[in-house]
Amino acid sequence: MSNVLKIVVILVTFLLTWRLSYSVTYKLTNVICESRNQSWVTINECRLKAVNRNRTVFNFNATIHHPTNDVVIDYRFLKRENGYKPWLYKKNIDGCRFLRKPYDMLTKMIYMVFKPFSNINHTCPFYGDILIRGMYLRTEIKAMPYPSGKYMLQINWSFYKKIQVVTNISYDFIENLL
Ligand SMILES: *[C@@H]1O[C@H](CO)[C@@H](O)[C@H](O)[C@H]1NC(C)=O
Ligand SMILES: *[C@@H]1O[C@H](CO)[C@@H](O)[C@H](O)[C@H]1NC(C)=O
Ligand SMILES: *[C@@H]1O[C@H](CO)[C@@H](O)[C@H](O)[C@H]1NC(C)=O
Ligand SMILES: *[C@@H]1O[C@H](CO)[C@@H](O)[C@H](O)[C@H]1NC(C)=O
Ligand SMILES: *[C@@H]1O[C@H](CO)[C@@H](O)[C@H](O)[C@H]1NC(C)=O
Ligand SMILES: *[C@@H]1O[C@H](CO)[C@@H](O)[C@H](O)[C@H]1NC(C)=O
Repeated sequence: MSNVLKIVVILVTFLLTWRLSYSVTYKLTNVICESRNQSWVTINECRLKAVNRNRTVFNFNATIHHPTNDVVIDYRFLKRENGYKPWLYKKNIDGCRFLRKPYDMLTKMIYMVFKPFSNINHTCPFYGDILIRGMYLRTEIKAMPYPSGKYMLQINWSFYKKIQVVTNISYDFIENLL
């Protein structure tokens, strides 16, 4: 499907459902973190933990060994349909600039998801331990209606123009019309 068609489908779904009350369920299903350069970044922890039947949390701990002033984040969403296929959004974000002044709406929404659980609350330089503790996907975050399914947020973290860390975060999104 072309992106234009996907957007039309989403808008139509939105128009048909916005008056109905509905609930959404989010569930983290898998996380993969990989350092491409151990001398710059070591990943100490990258793990999901089930805290109860309906909540799985994400714990992340990485150490940046040299002060880093140039961080570029490339991310895209993938949706699972016979394997993961690129879905709708792909972004290239200047991390230091974004943290000084959030300039991109979608990235801002993603940032709001993990900010309360993280020490990433300042701009560059980044140095030392980067932490996310006990993060879960809150159902209040209904940025916009989108189709139920299995998604992956794939992020490449580049320092000084070279990919240093790759994180793949998979989750299920289920929209329940009441
Ligand atoms: C790996 O990290 C070191 C700093 O620890 C840096 O000097 C080097 O350029 C990095 N290598 C790549 C391929 O980015
Ligand atoms: C989630 O789990 C908690 C504790 O196990 C329970 O009290 C709560 O009702 C559950 N919420 C939903 C939406 O199932
Ligand atoms: C993060 O990992 C480092 C290195 O293993 C450790 O010293 C530090 O205590 C960890 N931080 C947290 C909050 O777990
Ligand atoms: C991340 O880098 C890999 C190559 O290492 C590339 O195939 C992939 O498309 C990149 N992802 C994004 C979101 O740019
Ligand atoms: C940033 O987060 C750290 C650790 O959670 C906290 O100690 C610090 O006060 C926060 N700083 C700001 C400006 O919010
Ligand atoms: C992350 O996901 C992408 C897309 O499915 C895949 O190509 C890549 O190998 C994954 N990276 C890791 C470290 O598993």
